[in-house]
Amino acid sequence: MNDKKVVGEKAVEYVKDGMVVGLGTGSTVFHTISKLGKLVEEGLSIKGIPTSKQTEKLAKEVGIPLVMFNEIEQIDLAIDGADEVDDDFNLIKGGGGALLREKIIAKAAKSFIVIADPHKRVNKLGAFPLPVEVVPFGFEMTMKHIQDLGCSPHLRQNNGIPFLTDNGNYIFDCHFPKISQPGELEKNLNLIPGVVENGLFVGMADKVITLNREKTIIIN
Ligand code: 5RP
Repeated sequence: MNDKKVVGEKAVEYVKDGMVVGLGTGSTVFHTISKLGKLVEEGLSIKGIPTSKQTEKLAKEVGIPLVMFNEIEQIDLAIDGADEVDDDFNLIKGGGGALLREKIIAKAAKSFIVIADPHKRVNKLGAFPLPVEVVPFGFEMTMKHIQDLGCSPHLRQNNGIPFLTDNGNYIFDCHFPKISQPGELEKNLNLIPGVVENGLFVGMADKVITLNREKTIIIN
């Protein structure tokens, strides 16, 4: 079994009958959602709240009933992947461009479980370029302000056309030489007019499910 499937399916053990579950985005949580679909078929009663249109489509395909924010009081548990996880369980997310909805749902959840194959574990964040979601208006100027924080931002594009998030925004992938104070950087980026949100998730993960070198599951 591949690493993403192992950690993705392990997270399902934390989902209990009656829960509202935040469903992350990406190829790791794909396995969580697929497995949850099977359990729903067998009688598990949950409601999902998706972090992206891609996940909404997948959840519908596998038969997980979905809810919107106006229908619920709380999210019991959110499960999502990450692009990097440091020793303090701070994260870089947004490789799939869903960081804003992912952060809204992780913040609203009573518990946030991160599933990460071993390649995602790092001592310090920053080898993976930090995704920053910005509104299209004035993005050239927003880019300069982001650059002033010490990185080289690249507008995410497909065949020369700017990538659009589910919210109609652009993404800058920002390479910082190193991110030594993720909490500071997270706040400073969000102070820039035009920045909607950034992919630093600081102090948000309650649990990280990963594998060690021997491929044993580690849960912290
Ligand atoms: C999407 C994300 C994903 O969780 C992150 O990119 C990890 O993806 P994958 O599980 O495919 O490696 O933040 O916005």
